[in-house]
Amino acid sequence: MTIRKLAAGNWKMNGLTADIAEVEKLARAHPTPSCDVLICPPATLIAPMAQAIGTSAVAVGGQDCHATDAGAHTGDISAAMLRDAGASHVILGHSERRTDHEETDAAVRIKAHAARASGLVSIVCIGETLAQREAGVTLDVVTSQMDGSLPDGCTAADTVVAYEPIWAIGTGKVATMDQIAEVHAAMRAALEARFGAAAADIRLLYGGSVKADNAEQIFAVPDVDGALVGGASLKAADFGAIVAALGAA
Ligand code: 13P
Repeated sequence: MTIRKLAAGNWKMNGLTADIAEVEKLARAHPTPSCDVLICPPATLIAPMAQAIGTSAVAVGGQDCHATDAGAHTGDISAAMLRDAGASHVILGHSERRTDHEETDAAVRIKAHAARASGLVSIVCIGETLAQREAGVTLDVVTSQMDGSLPDGCTAADTVVAYEPIWAIGTGKVATMDQIAEVHAAMRAALEARFGAAAADIRLLYGGSVKADNAEQIFAVPDVDGALVGGASLKAADFGAIVAALGAA
């Protein structure tokens, strides 16, 4: 089966109105990309970005959502609100949220359920710490996180999983191709064991210091169906080179 790959940019807490111009530039430079292209800006930019890029090939997503649709939750944003603002995807359970906001697998799982109910695709993030890797428990950690964070009944239409080793995020340290291959194979096997045939085309992204100069090598690894990119997604030229590498992979 051929999986259409996904280049997803996570802007984290970066970006002001003026930076929407970078995404307009990206959309102009890649009018018909050979992969899906997504930018997840901070919540303040979702609606204006979605309006600015209109019907271009670039999709817009959120970086988190609440587990319920509406109510007394000051500061939170629901999946329905993201959808209403023009988002098609939402990143859930990023390691920075697991750390900064003490998000558990169970919390991520109910958010993914809410995202699906609102018609959003969840990009569920998992990944081990350096201490866990050095202790030799990486595969146990990531498969257990994945199992706990995904709701029942996931399919490629509503779920993407991103493997982001925490020690590789924002550090310039990329996992080796063997490390990525080993984890992605274990993820695919665990997804198939749980979801059966529906798991075969669930996209598995790698994230952690993906840049234009290492993208080609990473995209050649089996079961890598795209990337979740932080720093190198902020500028059209940098992210465009990753989009081009993925489209050619
Ligand atoms: P960097 O690409 O900046 O390492 O960030 C990766 C990441 O956390 C994407 O979600």
